[in-house]
Amino acid sequence: MIPCLRNPHLGRHSASGLIRHGDARAWGQLNVQPFAFQHSLSSHPLLSIERLARLSERAFDRDHYKRYFTPCELRVPREQLKKQFRESIEQIGENGKWVALHYIDEMDPEYADLFDLLLADIEEIIEIPVRSQMTWGSLSVFMSAPGLAVPYHFDHETNFLMQISGEKDLHLYPREHGSLTAPEIEDFYRHNPVAGIYREELEQAATAFLLKPGIGVHHPPLAPHRIRNRDDVSVSLSVYFSMPEMEERGHVYQANYCMRKLGLRPRAPGESALADGMKIKFMRALSTSHPRTHDELLYSGVSRLAAPFKWAKQLRQRA
Ligand SMILES: [Fe+2]
Repeated sequence: MIPCLRNPHLGRHSASGLIRHGDARAWGQLNVQPFAFQHSLSSHPLLSIERLARLSERAFDRDHYKRYFTPCELRVPREQLKKQFRESIEQIGENGKWVALHYIDEMDPEYADLFDLLLADIEEIIEIPVRSQMTWGSLSVFMSAPGLAVPYHFDHETNFLMQISGEKDLHLYPREHGSLTAPEIEDFYRHNPVAGIYREELEQAATAFLLKPGIGVHHPPLAPHRIRNRDDVSVSLSVYFSMPEMEERGHVYQANYCMRKLGLRPRAPGESALADGMKIKFMRALSTSHPRTHDELLYSGVSRLAAPFKWAKQLRQRA
């Protein structure tokens, strides 16, 4: 049984049309093919640079705030760091930076309401009760200076990336063209977020989208993508969630990572229900039984399992 980390307060709102239904055939391809859709968040007061700069101070109420800074930056007194972080958002047009705020629905109740409203819209369109079935989900916001690029990578969750201001070019690469190999996915589930390896020949299979205010693009889980900002400051909002079967598939890839390290040739997820079931059970037994974060839910088992391989590598390097 996969533990559940979803916020118990979700489910209070009904659909409100922030995300528009549009092309029903496209939405029928959820989690399989990328597609564009329309939304009405571009002038939402919670998503202005000023409001987001204010929100950034709430990041310091949570343990995970350290992830935003280098060890060197963390030597700065906390109140000064908070001020610098806020200013890095206020001055995003001039400082050449890329700033992300993660889990904003957990930082401020107004953003929790926005997350609930967006999930209500998605539920109404796809006719799946996401809020009562998902293991976890959240909201992130990305702010970037003109011309900045996000390198080729892929993500675990079902994702909806919505452009609030500025424009950017998004390339999504379909899995059926072999854009990802099994070892790349296994490496990703070992907790390497940049495990995807870009190859020039993939470019012809890419679907290109121009993200502009009012437009969103659905990213299927594990669909590689890269993004380049155009000439203005870009603000994008990402709403994402994962279902129990996605966590289970991740566990199968994690067991396969270790089997491949031992010189075996593991079966891909879905090839054998029996083998998959054993791998999931094994990884769950190794995982923290009461995870507090999604990282702990998905990666605590593989971190324990992969530790001997890391030690062996370190010993080899020292020798
Ligand atoms: Fe991404």
